Amino acid sequence: MTTKRVTTHTLRAMKSQGEKIAMLTAYDFSMAKILDLAGLDVLLVGDSASNVFAGHPTTLPITLDQMIYHASAVMRAVKRALVVVDLPFGTYQGDSKNALQSAIRIMKESGAHAVKLEGGEFVVESVRRIVSAGIPVMGHLGLIPQSINKFGTYSVRATQEAEANELIKDAKLLEEAGCFSIVLEKIPSALAQKVTNMLKIPTIGIGAGPHCDGQVLVTHDMLGITQDFSPRFLRRYANVFEIMHKAFTTYVEDVKKINFPTEKESY
Ligand code: KIV
Repeated sequence: MTTKRVTTHTLRAMKSQGEKIAMLTAYDFSMAKILDLAGLDVLLVGDSASNVFAGHPTTLPITLDQMIYHASAVMRAVKRALVVVDLPFGTYQGDSKNALQSAIRIMKESGAHAVKLEGGEFVVESVRRIVSAGIPVMGHLGLIPQSINKFGTYSVRATQEAEANELIKDAKLLEEAGCFSIVLEKIPSALAQKVTNMLKIPTIGIGAGPHCDGQVLVTHDMLGITQDFSPRFLRRYANVFEIMHKAFTTYVEDVKKINFPTEKESY
């Protein structure tokens, strides 16, 4: 049986039919396979790999080559979901030709379906150029982690009128420039609702309330593999840290006590 792939058009149709879009992050083959089989509509090869995979305190250090490595592994596993890959910090800001080259490398070398980039007005030229080359682009507004050094904190964005109005303007600009969807991160629920109602393209929220067209979380966070990150918006669906810790300590014990392997597990 062939599986019907999710495309950017599917997402647009889901918005108009009121069906919510489920998105999570993926960075490797094994996890991507489980996520795809579980029915995720979109897998994001997020630059959050810099945090949860490589252990950096921010998303800034991850490179284009590293993102392509993660995206290629995910693409080998996925049969149904739309795979979106983050353009990492420094590969698209300030120079739309450079942005296009970065996006082309991701598409050519990983086989992914789309790219995502952070920011509003200052990335519009890059969005236009990438979209005109036939590459679907997802936007990202609100808390944009690649700009952490500008904002200084990871707290809720656009709580004041001026910043909220700027976000509304940016969302319109991104839609006009050709984005197929926009992530809204850590903004007030009422603002996310307003933006969602205003746009024809779907919004995907993270810490942006229930009115967005879809939701995204970092998989390692929602699985409870990471332990030191507990914002209000994060629902933990499992405590995989505990399950893995138990399995590893039991294995150590078994090896030490020569309970593993048994004769039945030997040749
Ligand atoms: O990199 C990432 O995981 C993201 C999500 C938090 C939206 O951008």
